[in-house]
Amino acid sequence: GKDLRLSVVVFGASGDLAKKKTYPALYELFKKGFLPRRLQIVGYARTKLTTQELRDRLRGFLDKDTEAVEQFLNACSYVAGEYDTSDGYERLGAALQAWEAAMCVGSALPTSPTAGGSACGPCGGRRLGRLFYLALPPSVYPEVCAHLRAHCATLYGGIPSAGGRTAADGGRGAKGTAPAQLSQGSFVRLILEKPFGHDLATSETLATQIGAHWPEEQLYRIDHYLGKELVQNMLMLRFANPIFSAFFNRHYISNIQVTFKEPFGTEGRGGYFDSYGIIRDVIQNHLIQVLALLTMEAPVSLHPDDIRDEKVKVLRCIAPAAPSDCVLGQYVADQGQPGYLDDPTVPQGSRTPTFAAVRLFVRNERWDGVPIVIKAGKALNERLAAVRIQLRTPPASIFGPLDHMRNELVIRFQPGEAIYAKMVVKKPGLEMDYEMSELDLSYPERYRGVIIPDAYERLILDCIRGDQQHFVRRDELRAAWAIFTPLLHAVDAGGVPLHPYPYGSRGPAAVDPFINDSGYVRTEYT
Ligand code: BG6
Repeated sequence: GKDLRLSVVVFGASGDLAKKKTYPALYELFKKGFLPRRLQIVGYARTKLTTQELRDRLRGFLDKDTEAVEQFLNACSYVAGEYDTSDGYERLGAALQAWEAAMCVGSALPTSPTAGGSACGPCGGRRLGRLFYLALPPSVYPEVCAHLRAHCATLYGGIPSAGGRTAADGGRGAKGTAPAQLSQGSFVRLILEKPFGHDLATSETLATQIGAHWPEEQLYRIDHYLGKELVQNMLMLRFANPIFSAFFNRHYISNIQVTFKEPFGTEGRGGYFDSYGIIRDVIQNHLIQVLALLTMEAPVSLHPDDIRDEKVKVLRCIAPAAPSDCVLGQYVADQGQPGYLDDPTVPQGSRTPTFAAVRLFVRNERWDGVPIVIKAGKALNERLAAVRIQLRTPPASIFGPLDHMRNELVIRFQPGEAIYAKMVVKKPGLEMDYEMSELDLSYPERYRGVIIPDAYERLILDCIRGDQQHFVRRDELRAAWAIFTPLLHAVDAGGVPLHPYPYGSRGPAAVDPFINDSGYVRTEYT
């Protein structure tokens, strides 16, 4: 996209997410040469800052390559404005148009929409792009989306098409024709972050409010797990390797475990976390996305909508989680570490779960009867995100009982990306003994020196390229909420017991029997 003139507008530019994730990801893309040369990154927030003050704040979050940092910061500017009144958006819209006009000087882009065309279209084949990144609390999404559409969605020389759509958008389903003044491939896109609602009904309301101004093909809902290397690898692993696809069904697989563990608590984020809890924070989004990719059928093609169609289909086959199929926990102080309720940002006496294990079933021909346990918790003994697919024992084993030596396929997303399969092998030596070993693809060893890009970096680049594959479509979101909403309502009403567990432990004691009841057998290494 060398011909692209790109404006990225970061809403909430003075906030935490922007500083820690959005700007550093943009910087990495810039440094690696993935952003166009004609680029501006405009920060927008309520805080009264000058451009220089924003740059000074950002410097500490970028790396030590001072030349690249300074070049990047030169592209960054700042506009202070409110979210709920039109004034700031009008200024922003005018500034975007002025920049785009300046970037088109010397090209054939007409100064007025009626000025006529040139050899390869009125703008000389050059493209304009605007990407709005909302690093904001979702409570302001509806008004921000409305104002953005009204004041900032018209590219220089472009006119919005019928229904408020800017027609020149690359996504499939953009039905309008490109306005004559814009090059094909010019775009206006919006990136949004979770939380998308609190349950099915509130999520639907929010989606409708946003959808009134922004069509689905311009919306990029981030779930940063979809930007992780091994999450992205699952499609290839499953559908490019018959060795794996052959056993991916109820006839061979006994149970599946999806695990997320963090060794730290809410630590100052308790205000946000307490009104959501662990199920909304990571299970309903990140882990259910992983599960969808793991259990879906092969898509018709790699087109983003074909892939997302399959994810929706399998999500709709998952029966709503039952309160009886759930173990909840909340961490308490241990060994000098504070309990959840000791966090000053957490309301006193809160019963919000910081740990949950939920058993799900995919009711379709491939998976019916295979228990799938999603387990997630904060303040546990380690950092880990992984999927563990445990196979059945071989029928009529000629080696005697092998129940504690089951095959397992493990995909570890972090730390240390790895794919490995636990296998029974003959123990080397004169005796006919056996033991568990592994076929091991460990990325730090196999891809030594390869730097795996950060999820945000990858997803922002996808958005610039107009690839929605790794973004959550509205119907996926709806299907994911449908699975958890009845359970969440029961949890919110205090209808599910909450077990305390010590900070730094493996979670509540009740979880081991729960997982064993799901058919999981801890494999033994001799
Ligand atoms: C976020 C959650 O979405 O994901 C956090 O809000 C959690 O609570 C984080 O810590 C985990 O992301 P990662 O990439 O560190 O596994």
